[in-house]
Amino acid sequence: MKKFYITTPIYYINAAPHIGHAYTTIAADVLNRFLRKRGHSTYFLTGTDEHGAKIEQAAREAGLSPQAYADELSAKFKALWSRLDIHFDDFIRTTEPRHEKKVQAVFKALIDSGDIYKGKYKGYYCISCETFWTETEAPPDEKGARLCPNQDCRRPLQMIEEDSYFFKLPEYREALLKHYREHPEFLSPAHRGQEILSFVKSGLQNISVSRTKVKWGVEVPGDCGHTVYVWFDALLNYVSAVDGPQLREIWPADVHIVGKEIYRFHAVIWPAMLMALKMPLPAKVFAHGWWTVDGEKMSKSKGNMIDPYEIIREFGLDAFRYFLLREIPFGQDGDFSRTALLKRYNADLANDLGNLISRIVEMVDRYLNGVLPKRPDPEKDFYPQKIAQKTASIAAAMERLDFSGALTRIWAVISELNQRVNKEEPWKVAKTDPEKVKIILFDLVWSLRIVTGWLEPFMPQTAAKIQSQLGVRQFPEPLSAEQVLAGVRSGIGKIHKGPPLFPRKQ
Ligand code: MSP
Repeated sequence: MKKFYITTPIYYINAAPHIGHAYTTIAADVLNRFLRKRGHSTYFLTGTDEHGAKIEQAAREAGLSPQAYADELSAKFKALWSRLDIHFDDFIRTTEPRHEKKVQAVFKALIDSGDIYKGKYKGYYCISCETFWTETEAPPDEKGARLCPNQDCRRPLQMIEEDSYFFKLPEYREALLKHYREHPEFLSPAHRGQEILSFVKSGLQNISVSRTKVKWGVEVPGDCGHTVYVWFDALLNYVSAVDGPQLREIWPADVHIVGKEIYRFHAVIWPAMLMALKMPLPAKVFAHGWWTVDGEKMSKSKGNMIDPYEIIREFGLDAFRYFLLREIPFGQDGDFSRTALLKRYNADLANDLGNLISRIVEMVDRYLNGVLPKRPDPEKDFYPQKIAQKTASIAAAMERLDFSGALTRIWAVISELNQRVNKEEPWKVAKTDPEKVKIILFDLVWSLRIVTGWLEPFMPQTAAKIQSQLGVRQFPEPLSAEQVLAGVRSGIGKIHKGPPLFPRKQ
């Protein structure tokens, strides 16, 4: 059976990872955990993009050889993923022989098929963005200098004239348009799809896919003066990582999750490369939005990069994971600030969720000595069943990668449970009707067990802690809502009071 294949971009290693990188990787991890819990067999790939002039330059500045530098930085990404509880199946580095060999094989195959030819390139090049710009795209400024048109870069461009290999992208224009038309879900979300459509419709150009000036890269086979353009090299990671006997079990990708700024590479060039290779195309390419910090773009020069470790130290890992996916709809831009995080932490996590758990656990402890009895009449007005019905719409949101939508629905249930506690007032009922209080608490505990099943992909550690407090046996990870419900009639868990999950913060 084919595995559901999820990828993140492979990240440049010219600086340590920040919350932007963490965002994409956490989103992919959440989707992966969700699908695995639903019984899908999945494959989750991430990695690092290690070639190119930018990396060569960063290594030089660090006083290291490019390979030593790449080893060091790539390890930093891996260390962060481990701290963020990211469960990937493979981590690909573009300097690995398995990848380099594949890049060379593909390059040669496309020369042989006539998709790549050798010509001459003359143009303005930005080292930082690894991008060529045309004269019209980068007109001279008042001092006569040509600067990178990318507003976030604006570095001086270099005029480069060299022999170059070109990929005949325009040959695939019609086929791309046909594919977009026939597979409307390929370009997601829809508004990004519109941009791609008008870009492709307006015409495509052959793209230069080799460099003579960049030494740190994969050699073009049979022409050692050329290295493969870093983007052509990088995109192939999605295939090189799963090449070999397992390819048919994994390829094509089910979803490439990427930031909006690299959408064209993934939605235009990559599918065209795959068409040239006669390989099936990914099912979906999803572009998410960008985080700014206090309204500004994050950048090394502004010194406003947010270090994920600092956030986790203050708020804990799960609050960080939660905030990133709750605060802004996946696909839109948003702003990261400590104030916004603190607000969500206190309101959603400490108040709504944390208090609810501790209130209920305490009542089971006080009125039932920590033991949840069997429900006397399991079918009558069985409230957790009503809660469980929401699973379908939460799952549908997850499948659309609408993470904030799923969390909003989950929190609506949490608030419904809070209201139920306030309305039923079990502390009063305990004095007058001890049988009834058993049913109230039974239903609340089972409802919460279901809620934690939904929370698990987002907040695995919190879900495990709550399920352990609520007496759900875990094997070896927290249970999904369906798994919880399957045990609802038989399971009688012992309730263990635990420390507060999210102590309030200032
Ligand atoms: N190496 C290329 C990708 C090659 S994939 C074949 C690259 N690397 S990168 O290090 O610049 O990472 C870009 C990705 O990091 C974005 O697409 C996005 O997933 C994530 N983010 C980096 N900064 C971000 C924000 N400020 N906000 C949200 N995500 C951003 O491009």
